Amino acid sequence: MKKERIKNQIVDDSLNDIRFWVARMKEHALFIKLGLPADRVGLREEAQDFIDEFEELEERLNNVTEINTELLQNLIDAVSDLIGFKQDILNMLVECELRSSLMPSLVDHLISEAIYFQEILINTPEPNTFREILQEEVFWLQIMEEHVEFIIHLLDPSEKTLLTQAEQFREIFSRLLEIARDLESMAESLPDCFNTVIRFTNEVIEATTELRDFKAAAHELVEDCQVLSTVPTPILTAHVRLETDKFLEELDELKDNIPECDAEPPTGEFDFETLARNNTDNFRGRLEERFFGATNLVELTNILDEFGIQIPSRTDFNRNIVIGAIEYDIDSLNLENMTIQVVVNRKQRGYHLIKMLKNQLPNPGNYTLEFVTTRGTTLDRDQINIES
Ligand SMILES: [Fe+2]
Repeated sequence: MKKERIKNQIVDDSLNDIRFWVARMKEHALFIKLGLPADRVGLREEAQDFIDEFEELEERLNNVTEINTELLQNLIDAVSDLIGFKQDILNMLVECELRSSLMPSLVDHLISEAIYFQEILINTPEPNTFREILQEEVFWLQIMEEHVEFIIHLLDPSEKTLLTQAEQFREIFSRLLEIARDLESMAESLPDCFNTVIRFTNEVIEATTELRDFKAAAHELVEDCQVLSTVPTPILTAHVRLETDKFLEELDELKDNIPECDAEPPTGEFDFETLARNNTDNFRGRLEERFFGATNLVELTNILDEFGIQIPSRTDFNRNIVIGAIEYDIDSLNLENMTIQVVVNRKQRGYHLIKMLKNQLPNPGNYTLEFVTTRGTTLDRDQINIES
């Protein structure tokens, strides 16, 4: 039962990814159809067939909790057919065999997204080296920069205010892309830690959040018919915004995977992030069961099951440990030799779950978690093992 739940959580994450991209693929086919001239009936029909095919896949995906081999194969086939179709369109455009309002760069952009999705289907592992992390950032930054370029080309020349804003984003994102490529090249030498990547990723998150807001505002203007443009459908502006949200989601996960070099000897206070906090539910159980540390998902699930607490969103246990307290809030974490002191604060109800990056610890080995009140009274101890 518990194992099933863990499996489901992992399956859910990739299922959601696949649902996301299938919806985007359907939209790509729609954008191509809308950009084709009326007399290219055959090509328009082909585009429509892709819309129908991805719609059907979308429905199938909505009715499953797991992807079986047949569905996976259907997905892989549909995506590679769509890539082929997009490549044909691009060839026809550059050979001037097809004249349409589709920009060749846009079609090229749609191809790279489909290839990215194809790789997800064929199951590329989560990025975890600096090189892979930066490759991921390069891919998405390029997508973001191109989105801005398309927005610029779709806006009417009279939309000077929006165009100026878009130009600023173009500058920011082409600079970020350039930096990402430089860092990616440096990461080829496989460093163990590379703190600049952390700083850079934070910069990317900040800029991307602003870009997302800009795209959301532009989408609203298109929907309300308040902007002059050649945007063929508001689905396009919604589409680029959704992809930006997806990038932000990926960045959030990537951030957790970046190992940090210790600038100072690792003693003193640790950083941590709240995974879940609740101040309303009542819990039973003995005092000594209320404080815990977990170094893997099975352990965490077992503990949380005792209290009927839902497992919070995905945590990378390769890099983090999770510490929890029932009816207490966690205030701070301090290291003394091999003891992590967890300072907690009593509350009437609820719980507090946090995650802490393992690389803040100086060495692998057995650590004692000592749960103490702000007055220094020890409430409980737990052991955790940090593997090298
Ligand atoms: Fe897209």
